[in-house]
Amino acid sequence: MISEDTIQKVKEQNDIVDVISESVRLKKSGRNYSGLCPFHHEKTPSFSVSQDKQIYKCFGCGEAGNVITFVMKYRNLGFTEALKLLAERANIQIEEEGQKTVRKDPYERLYKINTEAARFFYKNLQGSKSSKSYFLGRGITEGTIRRFGLGYALDNWVTLLKYLKSKGYSELDMLNAGLIIRNEKGNYYDRFRNRVMFPVFDSRGRVIGFGGRVLDDSKPKYLNSPETAVFKKGTNLYGLNFSIKNKIEDRTIIIVEGYMDCISLHQYGITNVVASLGTALTINQAKLLKRYVDKVIISYDADLAGQSATIRGLQILKGEGFDVRVLTVPQGKDPDEYIRSNGRDAFLKLIDNALPLIDYKIKRAKEGIDLNNHEMVISFIKNAAEIISDLNPVEKDIYIKQISEEAGIKEQAIYDLISDNIHKNSSNMQDMNTLDNFGQKLYVEPSYIKAERSILRLMHDEKDAYDAIIKTISKDQFIMESHKKIFDLICENIDLDHKERQNRIELNCDNIESSKEWTHILEMELIYEDEDFEKLILDFTKEIKKYRLEESKKEIMNKIKQCELNGLMDESLKLAQELIYIQKELGRL
Ligand code: CTP
Ligand code: MN
Repeated sequence: MISEDTIQKVKEQNDIVDVISESVRLKKSGRNYSGLCPFHHEKTPSFSVSQDKQIYKCFGCGEAGNVITFVMKYRNLGFTEALKLLAERANIQIEEEGQKTVRKDPYERLYKINTEAARFFYKNLQGSKSSKSYFLGRGITEGTIRRFGLGYALDNWVTLLKYLKSKGYSELDMLNAGLIIRNEKGNYYDRFRNRVMFPVFDSRGRVIGFGGRVLDDSKPKYLNSPETAVFKKGTNLYGLNFSIKNKIEDRTIIIVEGYMDCISLHQYGITNVVASLGTALTINQAKLLKRYVDKVIISYDADLAGQSATIRGLQILKGEGFDVRVLTVPQGKDPDEYIRSNGRDAFLKLIDNALPLIDYKIKRAKEGIDLNNHEMVISFIKNAAEIISDLNPVEKDIYIKQISEEAGIKEQAIYDLISDNIHKNSSNMQDMNTLDNFGQKLYVEPSYIKAERSILRLMHDEKDAYDAIIKTISKDQFIMESHKKIFDLICENIDLDHKERQNRIELNCDNIESSKEWTHILEMELIYEDEDFEKLILDFTKEIKKYRLEESKKEIMNKIKQCELNGLMDESLKLAQELIYIQKELGRL
């Protein structure tokens, strides 16, 4: 019998999305993930996985269950077998009830041999002037060498092998730990030779592997232990044990790429730093971090590889619910180089200025965009719309304002683009919570849209209002093209009765945009108590005017910027006059 506790633990440590992702290609869709059902044949995805609820369900064939039943079904296993497989996957020991003797950690021998090797490398470094001065030359102090257990693998073929033999370890032990290599002739030799050595610790401070760096410019620069039973790529973070020991403050951690970046920042007293060792972050690493922090600042190299690693890593972290920021080190330096030449305070400033994920993405999308080149601006706006499409309405509104200002594009155009994307996405959406999904994607509409709709609705519903409106507003004052069209249609058909007019307009709204708007207009809730249409109409028209003025304000401010850049001072003064006028008008409204 396996205890309830163990079953619980196995479930907790095997996220259903991770497990199913190993066999089914899942796509995030709203709060859930969806993909092609592995239990029946289908061409459009009706298989949905909920991370919140840790369940899966197929709307096509009705299969449903949790992470354990998935493995049972998918791999055709019994309950115990499936449980054991998942336990192994999460490194959980299964102790069957009634089994008294607690089994020894099966990996103990691996940790021991690694520790022995680390000690040996450390001793070598202390006895070797050249390798010691390599570290000292890079600004690493004696204290840091000791704390991080830095060492040196001698320039020989079998020194470590012989040493470990003398300590009672066999070649098999050393092979299992990845410390030696066997050649075709069956001879064994040390994996690490003539390299300075970085022991890699797990979060509990046990040595699980090594990285070795050449002392010059030869290649490969770094050589790492191969995957072993205890050294698994993407499950550990270098330096985490030291961060934990120093107490991680504010539940915030900085992730850097390299050994030296991590060590260097620690030495400067910035100890909430871990290194991902050059690879993209994995879900397992994110989960490991979640125990200790809620906020992650990612600081990768400015080179392209670094940047795309950043984006991927960010996506993963975001998915695990972290507050994510991006720290960009200026002048193309890495954190180690930067802090060594600019000092601790300068680096702390970079931390303060780290950008939120969305800002970072927008900044990247904008790089190299010439604002005078229409095609470039269009593609930038498209990318930006994509980037912000998953945000909540308030955030979306903020970013749309910002993007619109920066690119000199009307806010409405960006809203249209996003709303286009929503319609595209929602048409092939099959999901457990379609409504949830839609709710998440809705955006706040600028208030002039509602104002225009209200005017049109009033015209259609109330003859008195109609008379007042056509005296005060002309078609051209509307901003949305579809609204201009509907305005015309109402005027043309004003003599028909209400119902007939409605039918006539419906028939004549022949493009998607205007028929969509007509539906909005009919379905909107327009409440007016007294019949003081004039006041009502005035309020709505003000809203539209305000929008127009704000748009021209932005346009002028952009023009001024351009003029200043090109040294056209007269022109820019003239524009400034216009700006003052607009400000005044806005004030009046
Ligand atoms: N890396 C690796 N193998 C390589 C190159 C890099 O495993 N051949 C990993 C190492 O963990 C390294 C990290 O990727 O620390 C970042 O690589 P890079 O930026 O090239 O090196 P730095 O960390 O800047 O190394 P150094 O400062 O020692 O030159
Ligand atoms: Mn470096």
